[in-house]
Amino acid sequence: MNKLTVIEAYGILEADGLVEARQGSGYFVNKIQICTAKPCTFAPAQQVIIPEGSNPTFFETYYASIDAHNHPDTINFHFGVPAPADLDDLQKIARRSLSNIGENVFNYDIPEGQLTLRKQIVQILIQRGLEVSPEQLIITNGSKQGMSLVVNHYVQPGDWVIVESPTYVGILAMLENLGARVIGIPMTGAGMNLELLSQYLHSHRPRLIYTISTLHNPTGITTNEAHRRELLHLAQQYSCPILEDNAYEGLNFEPVPPPIKALDQNNLVTYIGTFSKTLMPGLRVGYMVAPQETHQALLERKFFSDFHTSTVTQGIVSEYLASGHYRRHLSHLKSVHLDNRNIMLKALETYFPVTCSWTVPKGGVFLWVTLPEGVPLQEICQRAAKKRVIVGNGALFFPGKQSYPAMRLSFSAPPEDIEYGIMTLGEIVKSYL
Ligand SMILES: Cc1ncc(COP(=O)(O)O)c(C=O)c1O
Repeated sequence: MNKLTVIEAYGILEADGLVEARQGSGYFVNKIQICTAKPCTFAPAQQVIIPEGSNPTFFETYYASIDAHNHPDTINFHFGVPAPADLDDLQKIARRSLSNIGENVFNYDIPEGQLTLRKQIVQILIQRGLEVSPEQLIITNGSKQGMSLVVNHYVQPGDWVIVESPTYVGILAMLENLGARVIGIPMTGAGMNLELLSQYLHSHRPRLIYTISTLHNPTGITTNEAHRRELLHLAQQYSCPILEDNAYEGLNFEPVPPPIKALDQNNLVTYIGTFSKTLMPGLRVGYMVAPQETHQALLERKFFSDFHTSTVTQGIVSEYLASGHYRRHLSHLKSVHLDNRNIMLKALETYFPVTCSWTVPKGGVFLWVTLPEGVPLQEICQRAAKKRVIVGNGALFFPGKQSYPAMRLSFSAPPEDIEYGIMTLGEIVKSYL
């Protein structure tokens, strides 16, 4: 066997967290980290939500969270940004990528994105169980652009759209801005409640289902293969397209099933992914795999919006992937996040009242804490902020903010902050019981 193939294979095992490279000694099998925390007990009582009126808070929340992130003294459990890549590496990679792109950097490019990068992304997706070809891929300005292209393609003002509740606040703001009507189907510990989904597909005939199947934002839940099959089956029954947002893909430290798109025989699913969570959000490089019939329409929509994604940032991502830095960085990121998650789970058990429950995610950066009914969530968040602990107020993630008391906590905060931050929060929550 070729030596490079062996090195490549070790690189994959390392990125998956199965082996560890020790300088000068070789590769060693990683010990499986056993999480001793109590299992996920997520089972809130919740109705389907069909909000009335508006909920336009995403814009302000976004500014507030950027502001909090730039404040050196805060413990930020709200922002889910990965630990930064090494700056020296980034500088070297950026320089190399510019010389690779050469003269082309001074020109316009094709809307679907650079072929080299698309081929590299295809390799990543194949490892995740999704067989696609470079021709099926469109490089986008972050997954947010993919989301916007898909939503605007399928949904007209007044149309019904199904989302999980809670869900990513960005999709709620986008749908509201478009004048769509939202149906929030409750999340269970296993994913969207499929019985309710079936009922509302039948009664409201929505134009789109938006789902975050893997490492869901905000709950951290990953659905299993049976759930994915059933969701797809229901969508097929009602010919309802699915937008599968896999923004946190690759950040799993336990195996996760292939995406719903991999099961899609009837061209119903559009899949979106991103390098924002594994490399840097500032690069604005994401990608989408669209059904054959919509590919051209989505490509033209992108073309009319921005011609193409920056060739400079595409080149940087491509060089990260080619050089092996991406794999090493991902492996490092996952091991940091796994440690952080375990520190946070332990701190929650130590400092939070027993009447609270939380999810135990298989990766990503968020877990979801459900508080006892009746506690004043807004006041708790404000008191925490005064002590410089910023949390994601659960209400933000529900259509119409119709929420039970809950918080989204990011464990991408530095480990030394996690215990202190959770202790501070726990004391505040306990003061209301
Ligand atoms: C679920 C989800 N989808 C999409 C996005 C947007 O990511 P991007 O930076 O790739 O546009 C985010 C960002 O937080 C997210 O959490």
